[in-house]
Amino acid sequence: MKLLFIGDVVGSPGRDMLKEYLPRLKEKYRPHITVVNGENSAGGRGITEKIYKEFLEWGAQAVTLGNHAWDNRDIFEFIDQAKYLIRPANFPDSVPGEGMKFIKYNQIEIAIINLQGRTFMAANIDDPFQKAAELVDEARKRTPIIFVDFHAEVTSEKQAMGWYLDGKVSAVIGTHTHVQTSDNRILPNGTAYLSDVGMTGPYDGILGIEKDPIIYRFLTGLPVRHEVPKSGRNLLSAVIMDIDEKTGIAKKIDRILINEDHPFFS
Ligand SMILES: [Fe+2]
Repeated sequence: MKLLFIGDVVGSPGRDMLKEYLPRLKEKYRPHITVVNGENSAGGRGITEKIYKEFLEWGAQAVTLGNHAWDNRDIFEFIDQAKYLIRPANFPDSVPGEGMKFIKYNQIEIAIINLQGRTFMAANIDDPFQKAAELVDEARKRTPIIFVDFHAEVTSEKQAMGWYLDGKVSAVIGTHTHVQTSDNRILPNGTAYLSDVGMTGPYDGILGIEKDPIIYRFLTGLPVRHEVPKSGRNLLSAVIMDIDEKTGIAKKIDRILINEDHPFFS
């Protein structure tokens, strides 16, 4: 089975790119399941119910989140009803939403897990490694096809998760740092790995944010407002994986990058 994962959609430029290219990517790669990381999709911070529903309408089967999941207060109103929205699993059980969901195509079930790293991020959440082990044990009772979106800042933490879960899950794909890495590989025991899938949204900003205030902040050390640019060039970052349906072992992982320097060919 083929699984398409689209990296962190940032604001309306990211949503426009998703709407424009998701049908074309589906036509070209024929994924059975499409997952989108939407934690920056509402003006760069969080997600709204309207946006979540649009992603499903445009062809996503599941939407993952990250450290910005809670930035838009809307989330608390709809997360418990949102069947295909997955927040980082390593929060206490009392936090709304769920960190693992099962989705189906034909009769085949896929577990989608979202985890958040702790190094150089909010450290007061639960251990993502321990949580991963628990969830993988639970998931494997139902299906060997398990996809992990590991939303983390540090490459070493992401690589550690990849190796830790090698052979236990189909894929560990990093999100959050917004720049696509080129280390896609199948680890020795069959887990597809990529340190970061990259972002979908403004191409000429800094990680999807208006660049001038960020440069100003580096020059002065003063706080600035983060705004998503309203116009300009955009990009889309994604990864396509081929997974054996019976064993859950990954057979292939390829990066997808669409921008003016890497145009899309159908
Ligand atoms: Fe993030």
